[in-house]
Amino acid sequence: MNGAIGTEVRRDELEGWIEGIAAFNATPGEGVTREVYTPEFQEARSYVIDRMRELGLEVREDCLGDVFGTYAGTDPTAAPVWTGSHIDTVPNGGRYDGLAGVFAGLESVAAMRRAGVRPRRPVSVNVYAGEEMSRFGVCCIGSRAISGRLTAADLVSHADPEGTTLAEALQRLGYDTERFGSKFPRREPVHASLELHIEQSDHLERAGVPVGVVTGICAPTNLVCEVRGVQSHAGGTSMRDRRDAYMAAAETGLLLERLARESTSAYITGTVGRLALVPGVASVIPGRATFTVDVRSVSAADKDALVRDLEAGAREIARRRGVEVSFELLNDDAPLACDEHLTSVLRGRADELGVAHMDVVSGPYHDSLMLGDLMPVAMLFVPCKGGISHDRAESIDYDDLVKGTAVLAEGLARIADE
Ligand code: GLV
Ligand code: MN
Ligand code: MN
Repeated sequence: MNGAIGTEVRRDELEGWIEGIAAFNATPGEGVTREVYTPEFQEARSYVIDRMRELGLEVREDCLGDVFGTYAGTDPTAAPVWTGSHIDTVPNGGRYDGLAGVFAGLESVAAMRRAGVRPRRPVSVNVYAGEEMSRFGVCCIGSRAISGRLTAADLVSHADPEGTTLAEALQRLGYDTERFGSKFPRREPVHASLELHIEQSDHLERAGVPVGVVTGICAPTNLVCEVRGVQSHAGGTSMRDRRDAYMAAAETGLLLERLARESTSAYITGTVGRLALVPGVASVIPGRATFTVDVRSVSAADKDALVRDLEAGAREIARRRGVEVSFELLNDDAPLACDEHLTSVLRGRADELGVAHMDVVSGPYHDSLMLGDLMPVAMLFVPCKGGISHDRAESIDYDDLVKGTAVLAEGLARIADE
C-alpha cells in the first residue's frame, strides 16, 4: 500500500479495540446485546473515551451522550471534519455493526499521529448515541438530534417496551435534558463527514472487492399496523364465522412482501419485525394483532407509493375478513445521495493506495443519513461475511477493515486540509 498515513494503520490495534469492547454485553455467548443507555452501553462508552484520551484527543459529550473526540488541526478557527459511528447493538447482534466505524475513525487518527500528519481542520471521531431503533422505536437518536430531526417532544413520546421514555432513561443517567432545545440542532458548521461501516449486504463479498464507496443511503419508513377482529374460542368458533385479527395481519404481511418483491424500484425492502397478538394464547382466536412495518428505498417516491398500496390493500383485506385495520406512521426518513466531491476524493485515495473499490448503495440506514441534512457526507463499506448482520454470526476479515481504514484515514486527512 502506498500512502504515508494508510501504511500506518495497524491491524492489531483495530482488532484489540473491537474485540475488547465486545465484553460489554448483556448476553454473553448469545451475540452482543448493548442497547442504548443500558449499563453495558455506558461501560462501552467509557471504554471508547479511555481510548480517545490515550490518543490525546480532546473529549466532549453532549446531553444525549454523543461523544466527540477531537484531534486538533493547525487552524483552530476551521470547521471540523467528522468521522465515527455507533456502539449500540440490536439484541443478540454482532461485534462490527457500528463498532468498525468508530474504531476505524480512532485508528485513522492514530495513523495520522504516527505519520506525523496534522491537517488544517480538526478531525473529530464521534460516537452517536442510539443508532439502532430496537430499544425506543426511533433510530439514530444522537445524529437525529444533531440534524434537528429529533425534537424535545420526541424525548417523551418514545418509550422502550418497559414503558421507560427516552427522557426518563436520560435523566436516570444524569443527562440534563433541559439543555436539549439550546443544543440541537447543531449550529456550528461541520465541513464534511466520512463514516466507515460494514456493508450488511453481500455485494462486495460476491465481487471480491474489499472497499465500497457508498453513493446513496436508503431510509426507513416505519409504521405500526393494528388489526381489530373478534376474540373468541379456538374450538367453538367455526372457520366460517371467525373474524381473526391474526389471519388478516398475516395476509397484510404477505401483501407487503409481494409489493416489495414486485416493485421495479431498486433496493426496496418491506419487513414485519414484530407481531403481538391479544390475548396471545393458543386456545383463543386473537381479537387484536399489532405489527411493525419497515419499508426502505433509495427513492422516497417509490417508498410512498408502496406504503399507499399497502394501506389500500390492507383495507380491502380487512373488509373481506370483517375486521378493522389502521396504520400509525412512526417515522418517515428521506433517503440521501452521498456528496459527489467526497466520494470522488475517497475513490482517488483508494486508487492511490492500490485498494480495489466499487460503488455501492446502502440498504441499511446509518448516522450519516441524519448528518446529511447539515453537512456533506460520504461512507465507505467493508464486506461482512455472507452479508450477515444484525445477528451473532456477523463477521469480517480484518485485512479488509485495514484497507477500508487506510482509505478513510487518507480521505480524512485530504478533506481536513481543504
Ligand atoms: C440499521 O441498523 C438499520 O436497521 O438499517
Ligand atoms: Mn445496525
Ligand atoms: Mn450500524
